[in-house]
Amino acid sequence: MNDLFLRACRREPVERPPIWIMRQAGRYLPEYRELRKKVDFVTLCKTPELATEATLQPIDRLGVDAAILFSDILVPAEAMGFKVDFNPGPVLDRAVRSAADVDAVRTPDAGEVAPYVYEAVRQIRRALDGRVPLIGFAAAPFTLAVYLVEGKGSKSFDRIKQMLFAEPALAHRLLDKIATLTEGYLLEQIRAGAQAVQLFDSWAGLLGPREYREFALRYARRVLDALRSAGVPRIYFALNNAHLLEDLRECGADVVGMDWRVPLDVATARLEHRFALQGNLDPCALMAPPATIRALAHDIVERGRTAPGHVFNLGHGILPDTPVEHAQALVEAVRESAR
Ligand code: CP3
Repeated sequence: MNDLFLRACRREPVERPPIWIMRQAGRYLPEYRELRKKVDFVTLCKTPELATEATLQPIDRLGVDAAILFSDILVPAEAMGFKVDFNPGPVLDRAVRSAADVDAVRTPDAGEVAPYVYEAVRQIRRALDGRVPLIGFAAAPFTLAVYLVEGKGSKSFDRIKQMLFAEPALAHRLLDKIATLTEGYLLEQIRAGAQAVQLFDSWAGLLGPREYREFALRYARRVLDALRSAGVPRIYFALNNAHLLEDLRECGADVVGMDWRVPLDVATARLEHRFALQGNLDPCALMAPPATIRALAHDIVERGRTAPGHVFNLGHGILPDTPVEHAQALVEAVRESAR
């Protein structure tokens, strides 16, 4: 089995950094677009056979060193009582604004949050047959709270920020519910066979340090702590974290995901070399010619050597209009960078 990814997460010696790509199963792949002609995204997520097919597409096409469950961070919202559509971003049928709305948020037992996800994890493990490890994932509580309170993606995030400042106790009640559900949801993914987990805190970076610590970091840490004894590597990815790195030392993860805004050598120093790092090529760099991609990748590999472990990735999800050959060139460049 190719266990480079797991070894790098555990800060063990590796011949070269492993690579996987956030959103590696997605619209930039012609075979994914073919699959999507037949079924909508929600059906894909809810049908374990199809989720398995989508999960394996980038393994076959790119030769990346890890697979990530095909699903979405909004999937658990349905079990919490929301109807979610994708257009293409998530849109909820209602938004959480009042105390009564928070009370109405359901927190079913972990086994009932998304049984089809656990079944997909089991089927993916069988289909992978040990080729590469499988990563499970969930939204960090704050990021899921953003969607529940805004009702969809947002540019300004007025609603959630208003709640944090004007009704902090209400925000804490909501975050507490989400954190409890997320702990169980990820533990069930691990029980089903996920060999690592990533917590996506996509919107944490919109907070200043004080609010970040109180409303985002605290709940991400709670989830990560609850998973510690499960014994699988835990990755925490907070997009836009350049102003939060010193606070991130307290996140409790094994691996910290970085976007492109802070070079990895600077990031590891600011994190006091406590974590393996994951990242951090700008997804837009994949629009450059392959020679440029190779040079940029090698620079990141060099900087990554200063961290206790390095998992190569983009700094955010791959863009739908990325040429597949450019993604392949990136994987090649990292593969040829034997340590
Ligand atoms: O990485 C993977 O390949 C695994 C699957 C995965 C998806 N979404 C599939 C998806 C993962 C890990 C996610 C995480 C996710 N989803 C995040 C966190 C990462 C980040 O981008 O910050 C967020 C914020 C979402 C919410 C979401 N889902 C958005 C904003 C969108 C639309 C825009 C976009 O980037 O595609 C989605 C839809 C979505 N999730 C698609 C896929 C493959 C596209 C659906 C389609 O086929 O039309």
